[in-house]
Amino acid sequence: MPRQPQIVKTVPSLRRAVAAFRARKETVALVPTMGALHDGHLSLVRTARRRADRVVVSIFVNPAQFAPTEDFSTYPRTFAADIALLSQESVDLVWAPGKVAVMYPEGFATEVVPGGAAAAGLEDAFRPDFFKGVATVVCKLFTQVTPDIAVFGEKDYQQLKVVGRMARDLDLPLKVIGAPTVREGDGLALSSRNVYLSAEERAAAPTLHRVLTLCAKKIAEGHSIATILSEGREAIARAGFALDYLEARHAETLAPLAAAQDGPARLLVAAKLGKTRLIDNVGV
Ligand code: PAJ
Repeated sequence: MPRQPQIVKTVPSLRRAVAAFRARKETVALVPTMGALHDGHLSLVRTARRRADRVVVSIFVNPAQFAPTEDFSTYPRTFAADIALLSQESVDLVWAPGKVAVMYPEGFATEVVPGGAAAAGLEDAFRPDFFKGVATVVCKLFTQVTPDIAVFGEKDYQQLKVVGRMARDLDLPLKVIGAPTVREGDGLALSSRNVYLSAEERAAAPTLHRVLTLCAKKIAEGHSIATILSEGREAIARAGFALDYLEARHAETLAPLAAAQDGPARLLVAAKLGKTRLIDNVGV
């Protein structure tokens, strides 16, 4: 039976709701999102459901992680549909700050700036303030909700590693858990931004995952990473993408990786199709 989650829009009401769980000695899992929910988000909710007594989903389109040139104002906002989906998943609580000023009140002046290999290059090279915006809001979400675990998608692999590093560095008392990428039948990773793709772009989009998996296979067979990645970059460009990066990194530290035997390796890609920027990654 679908049961609508409790929706809280202010920090005091969130704290009261979580305190009620804690009074019953229940464990709490948090799934942070920006809404426009799809099956990828719901798979995180299901992972959270298996691991904790109570599931909290946050829905907040975080202005701090969008550059002025990016899509903050047009980012899809589908709150009623999101709540309907979360009702199906028996989510207990939705933390949806009523206004941006609930998260960033007048005078807000403190930021979390992630460093180290995880936050260097890849997305950071193309979206310079992105991880600062993500780390700041995720740190706030963690201290607001005080979950035992938080679930993030491998879809945003660098984000998962940056958040894990931050939680360890700041001794935040929770476990950060990664969940596998959910894909369409043709391999395209589900994303709230896929709605931006034209029919023609949508038809070309699965090439990104196809090239990634082919590169991973060849690297696993012993071919040189440098050679395979340069072939991969050409194949992605031939399919009509404007490539931002295709790189191999250490799967845990995200340090640059020259040879597969220095790994476990992860291949990460970002590329634009028209105006839409897609990211993806696979393990080797
Ligand atoms: P958003 O893009 O809404 O994604 C929320 C969570 O869903 C992230 O952990 C993301 O990795 C995961 N996710 C998205 N698509 C997925 C897919 N196809 N399969 C599995 N998981 C998927 O990521 C953000 O929001 C924000 O940066 C946030 C962490 C909420 C901070 O504002």
